[in-house]
Amino acid sequence: MSMGNKNKWWRNAVVYQIYPKSFQDSDGDGIGDIPGIISRLDYLKKLGIDAIWLSPVYRSPQDDNGYDISDYQDIEPMFGTMEDMEQLFAEAKKRGIRIMMDLVLNHTSDEHRWFLEAKKSKDNPYHDYYVWRDGEEGVYPNDMNSVFGGPAWEWVPELGQYYFHQFSVKQPDLNWENPKVRQECCDIVDFWADLGVDGFRCDVLDFISKDFANNKMNDGPRLHEYVKQLFGREKVKHLFTVGECQSDTESICSICGKDRDELKSVFQFEHIGLGRSDKYTPAPYSASQIKDVLVKWQNFTAEHDLLYILFTDNHDQPYFISRLGNDKELRYECATAYAGMFYLLKGIPFIYQGQEFGSANSRYEDIDSFNDVETVNYYRENCDKKPHDALIDEINYGSRDNTRRPIAWTKEKPTRGFTSGTPWLKMPSRAEEINLEADKSAYKSIIGFYKKILALRKSSDVIKYGNFKDLTQGDDCFVFEREKNGEKIIVAVNFEKANSLKLPSCLTGENFELLLCNYDEKDDFAPDFAPYEIRVYHKR
Ligand code: GLC
Repeated sequence: MSMGNKNKWWRNAVVYQIYPKSFQDSDGDGIGDIPGIISRLDYLKKLGIDAIWLSPVYRSPQDDNGYDISDYQDIEPMFGTMEDMEQLFAEAKKRGIRIMMDLVLNHTSDEHRWFLEAKKSKDNPYHDYYVWRDGEEGVYPNDMNSVFGGPAWEWVPELGQYYFHQFSVKQPDLNWENPKVRQECCDIVDFWADLGVDGFRCDVLDFISKDFANNKMNDGPRLHEYVKQLFGREKVKHLFTVGECQSDTESICSICGKDRDELKSVFQFEHIGLGRSDKYTPAPYSASQIKDVLVKWQNFTAEHDLLYILFTDNHDQPYFISRLGNDKELRYECATAYAGMFYLLKGIPFIYQGQEFGSANSRYEDIDSFNDVETVNYYRENCDKKPHDALIDEINYGSRDNTRRPIAWTKEKPTRGFTSGTPWLKMPSRAEEINLEADKSAYKSIIGFYKKILALRKSSDVIKYGNFKDLTQGDDCFVFEREKNGEKIIVAVNFEKANSLKLPSCLTGENFELLLCNYDEKDDFAPDFAPYEIRVYHKR
């Protein structure tokens, strides 16, 4: 039975990602926690969000900040208890906020009970839950490297075997070819579905089926079968499931296609890859490339009737405005222009914590100010190979810690309302200038603009469901139309330099009115646009 659109709550939702460790501490231990999240629900409601994607809060040794899970059915004590989690579900529900959890099923922690058993002997019932190769110490089964640096194989002398880890050495990959593993994973999904979770963001989901024959770790031959087993079951078909997948056009169609019973959507990362040659090295780009990617995916998802996720930031990337915009003298203009440019398109907005008040990258000079396992490994691997200053520049540019630093809620020094103790990771280096309290009271308030954008979205079926049409003429700008049953909204965004835009000829005061702009406008329809100016027009 297919679900009517009525039940697909996500079709008109705005989702907000919380990175629990850095969101709000309630007990002074310097680490954000679940009661802290509960205390901020009213703030989120006022912002205009409908659902939370909660990065992992399961029991975990925190080698990769919770993406290394040692018990999927329990809560990490630093975040709270199962009772706290149930209270979060209840308090969120009272406010009409849905909860999506992060589902990390490609790997577990090496401290998970299954792995502790698996390591005991080759004939242990859990041994085959993981991926092993016989071998000789120092002679790796193949030359595959882990995403976080170094070989993807770790030697276990007691067994005379290597285990495979796509990520850190403390994150052994599960062997999805084992039907018992698949059953355990279904049980985990059901456990949280029974507790009332509304959806899942599925961590590196395309890695669960591996293609060792071709040394290819994602999109393996059994991916669709596995995902269907996980989410195609009647009991869980109602969940909003979004995959983190390295998907191109073809694989998106196959994993998210209607009636496939696999995923509702995936994150598409093409725009995130712009402007760099690798994670730590910038490369030339133009904002028009961001526009081109958005146009491509708006058209593609419309053509194939797929849901597109609209996002700029998450916990794995430096801030978007810092890397692909201007976080200095045009921070307000850039943050608001990009918010309108993404969140007025067709799709489902995902906002990352802090983005709504223009948070930006930090600058720190020593490796002790960083925590991320990927960053620290990169530093260690390169500190004898590269000049120190250059390496520190690279890390400041690309580290995932940029977006993982605690939220600066207030002006209050030194911990800005995040904690009464010592933060687990240094506060953002620009917290004096960039904090929620300062932004809220500023004349040019980023959160004020976000609220307007989200409220407009909420009130407008044209923005939620209308067709998309690219009307851009010329360079360095993006002009698009949204239309439903003759009702129209036109959004015009200028990029970094002052520019005279070729606006559509229909855009006159007789036909349209200006709904929203991030500058004080003198003439609503003048072609001259200031740096990062955005205007949103509505057809009368
Ligand atoms: C995903 C997560 C990232 C994590 C990795 C391994 O990419 O977003 O934070 O380190 O998977 O679980």
